Amino acid sequence: MENVLTISNLDKRYGKIHAVNNLSIAVEKGSVYGILGPNGSGKTTTLGIVLGVVNSGGGSFSWFNEPNSKQNRKRIGAILEQPLFYPYLSALNNLKIVADIKQVSYDDIERVLKIVDLWERKDSKFKTFSYGMKQRLAIASALLGNPEVLIFDEPTNGLDPRGIAEIRELIIDIARQGITIILASHLLDEVQKTCSHVVVLHKGEKLFEGKVEDVLNLSNTVEVASNNAQILEIALNEFGKINEMKRNGEQFLLSLSEGITTTDLNTYLIDKGIIVSHLSVRKKSLEEQFLELLSE
Ligand SMILES: Nc1ncnc2c1ncn2[C@@H]1O[C@H](COP(=O)(O)OP(=O)(O)OP(=O)(O)O)[C@@H](O)[C@H]1O
Ligand SMILES: [Mg+2]
Repeated sequence: MENVLTISNLDKRYGKIHAVNNLSIAVEKGSVYGILGPNGSGKTTTLGIVLGVVNSGGGSFSWFNEPNSKQNRKRIGAILEQPLFYPYLSALNNLKIVADIKQVSYDDIERVLKIVDLWERKDSKFKTFSYGMKQRLAIASALLGNPEVLIFDEPTNGLDPRGIAEIRELIIDIARQGITIILASHLLDEVQKTCSHVVVLHKGEKLFEGKVEDVLNLSNTVEVASNNAQILEIALNEFGKINEMKRNGEQFLLSLSEGITTTDLNTYLIDKGIIVSHLSVRKKSLEEQFLELLSE
């Protein structure tokens, strides 16, 4: 697999604060890579370093397996903090300024405004835009010049539920066009919904990295047993709301369908006259670690 970004043993301290601690990650081409961690875990600092706006204190990084240069910086689009646009200029005129800075033809402006669904509003002044529209204009601006990688830092902060859904769909859409995406977020849910890969950070350190489906799989395994395994098995088969069932001696290991709780299962079994001798939820250890981390 080709890597778009490789970070090796990256380090950054601010006085006593170890903002990034010996971090190594690799972002595969075509992935939607989530950097997930609570506030202050070093996400923005890491992005700042790889974008060349923050000096690192050690380690290295490389884009496209090439030495860092102004040339390969042009292949990266970033939406970092509050977008800086001129409030009294229209969306179109703001993007013309960005196109000038990026040395991109104005012809590209229509394409990017259409992607973010702002073409109809191209003549409206920036200051009249809603928060969600401002965020979409920032994405359009980053898309100018057809970057191969797009970086988002907390793209849905401050948006309402509809705005959040719109931005997430837009990110997934952009990824489908083959652009690699790196997205920093403190929201587990956001990373689960939009990302294919994830690194989880805690106090600047990597806790784990991998495919979202492996690392953040929140489906729990339920263990259930009764003193008559045969009757229990028949009842479980009749219950139906089970994705997967495995027998392990007298115990059954189940993955319940979405929205089904162990209480639902237990209520059903009691109705059937089956008293369980054991019923418990076995959580994945990574998930446990992450939930603990977020509850600190
Ligand atoms: N310029 C700075 N000067 C001093 N400390 C800083 C500076 N920038 C970041 N830090 C510290 O480094 C740590 C990591 O900050 P960073 O902004 O990278 O975290 P984050 O994961 O992006 O957090 P958030 O979810 O709140 O955006 C924090 O403890 C922060 O206070
Ligand atoms: Mg941040």
